[in-house]
Amino acid sequence: MPGVFEPLQLGDIALANRVVMAPMTRSRADGNAVPTDIMIEYYRQRASAGLIVSEGIAPSRHGIGYCRTPGIYTPSQVAGWRLVTDAVHQAGGRIVAQLMHCGRVASHFNKAADAQTVAPSPVRAAGKIYTDVAGMQELDLPRALKLSEIPGVTDEYATAARNSLAAGFDGVELHCTSGYLPMQFMAMNSNLRTDAYGGSAQNRVRFVVETLEALVGAAGAGRVGFRICPGNPFNDVVDPEPSVTYEALLSGVTRLEPAYLHVIRSPSKDFNAFAFAGRHFRGSLIINDGFDGASASQALAEGRGAAVSFARHFIGNPDLVRRLREGLPLAGFDTKTMYTPGPAGYTDYPCAPA
Ligand SMILES: Cc1cc2nc3c(=O)[nH]c(=O)nc-3n(C[C@H](O)[C@H](O)[C@H](O)COP(=O)(O)O)c2cc1C
Repeated sequence: MPGVFEPLQLGDIALANRVVMAPMTRSRADGNAVPTDIMIEYYRQRASAGLIVSEGIAPSRHGIGYCRTPGIYTPSQVAGWRLVTDAVHQAGGRIVAQLMHCGRVASHFNKAADAQTVAPSPVRAAGKIYTDVAGMQELDLPRALKLSEIPGVTDEYATAARNSLAAGFDGVELHCTSGYLPMQFMAMNSNLRTDAYGGSAQNRVRFVVETLEALVGAAGAGRVGFRICPGNPFNDVVDPEPSVTYEALLSGVTRLEPAYLHVIRSPSKDFNAFAFAGRHFRGSLIINDGFDGASASQALAEGRGAAVSFARHFIGNPDLVRRLREGLPLAGFDTKTMYTPGPAGYTDYPCAPA
């Protein structure tokens, strides 16, 4: 089995190694959801990853949930991302855009005045969300998408995929976990619909399958990946039968031949998400959650995935690939600056001494 530092072809994307930087929202965009200069520097510093999956990027103004998160639906956002992708490519890296529509996990305080909070059903998620303007707030009560509006949401994703390629991204990743819009369709407590998008597993995965179809149509299958975590209850979603739901999803999308499936370890010890994904998806897996250098090497040696992604280790170790390769100690990071504006705790983590 190939090791962590060997190259990998994921669809149309050629990776120099199998250490992937997992997506991380860091809340450093400006008030118009445009990438800032420190974001260029942050991603450039981490370009030795075989592939960077960007932080979640909203495909439309309705998709914004959190403050200072970026979008890819205006010309200035596309221009801002072009500076990021150029910097990563000049440093020899590859980067895909993670398309993240927050759906009901949102506050209107964090979005444009003409943006709406939409979801499969008018069910408010439990929990609070931070806003710059009004502190902690209840999550919005979402407006249910009308049946006739759903193709428009899928189109927003397709436009975002075209914009991502125009901005120089090597591809896009559909964010289908953590309780955001795609998962709100797949889960049982957030989707009470009685039309073709609710009820049976086949119906609950329909929005995700159609969105992936639209992304493949816009970007080409070799430049589209997607991310799942079966059974993840984050952001108040409940799915008592993840094996049924995700079998329906994976059997529906395998025929599209996406470049990869990014799968997060299931929170349930009884559910082996990596083995499940391997059984039901014919394609490359990027596996995630809690890996270090040794466990990543072991997982690849056992054939559990084609690549391993790391999130938190990349915060304090911009040169994570070198540190893993040379067995250098890994630095920690300050959780207080994960989502704060400015360079502190973002672009000021040093590389290991030469
Ligand atoms: C600060 C932070 C922000 C995150 N934002 C996202 C995100 O935007 N999209 C996503 O799919 N996962 C997000 N995650 C989850 C990570 O990608 C990853 O699944 C998780 O941290 C487990 O991997 P790790 O053990 O290597 O950190 C985030 C994690 C952290 C720590």
